[in-house]
Amino acid sequence: MKTTEVLVKEHVLIRQVLDSLSIAREKLEKGDRPPKEVFEKAVLFSKNFADKFHHYKEEYLLFGLLAQKKEGALDLEIGALRYQHERCRHFVAEIKNAVDGYSSGNEIIITTLLENLAPYISLLRRHIYMEDYVFFKMAGKELSDDEDRALLGQFENEDKRIGGKDFYEKYKKIALEINSMMQEMTTPSV
Ligand SMILES: [Fe+2]
Ligand SMILES: [Fe+2]
Repeated sequence: MKTTEVLVKEHVLIRQVLDSLSIAREKLEKGDRPPKEVFEKAVLFSKNFADKFHHYKEEYLLFGLLAQKKEGALDLEIGALRYQHERCRHFVAEIKNAVDGYSSGNEIIITTLLENLAPYISLLRRHIYMEDYVFFKMAGKELSDDEDRALLGQFENEDKRIGGKDFYEKYKKIALEINSMMQEMTTPSV
C-alpha cells in the first residue's frame, strides 16, 4: 500500500463521522435533541483520530517531506491544507466547549453547536476532497518508490507509537457507535 492510499483509507472513516454529524446537525436545526454522547464521541474521534493521528501524519511526515523535496514550490498548497487543519481544530474546540453544557438545553449552547458544526463538516469534507482528488494525486507522482517506502515506515512507527491496530479498531468502533445512534434517531418507530 502507498502512503497516500493509507491516508485515503483513513478519510473513509472520517467521512463516516462527518455524515453522522451532518444528520445530528439537521436534527438540531429542526428542534430535535440528538444524544449528548453523539457529540462527545464525535469530539473524541475528531481530536484523536482525525487530528492527532491522521493530520499529524500528513503535516509532519508527508507535507514535511514534500516541502523539502520541492523547495518551496508547494508552499501555497501545503499552507492552505495546514490552515484548514488549524481551523478544524478551532471548530472542534468550540464544539467541545458547547457539549459540556449541552444537557442544560440552553439555546445559546445549541446556537454555538450549530455555528461550529456547520463549518467543521463543510470545511473538512472539502479538505478531504482536495486531498483525495488533487493533492495526493500530485504527491503520488512526486514521490519516488524509495521515498514512499521510507515514508510508509515512518507512518508505521507513528501507528505503533499511538497504539497500533487497537487504536484504529477503537476509533472504527466509535465511528460505528455514532452512526448507529443517529440511525436510531432517523428510523421511524413501528
Ligand atoms: Fe489533511
Ligand atoms: Fe487528510
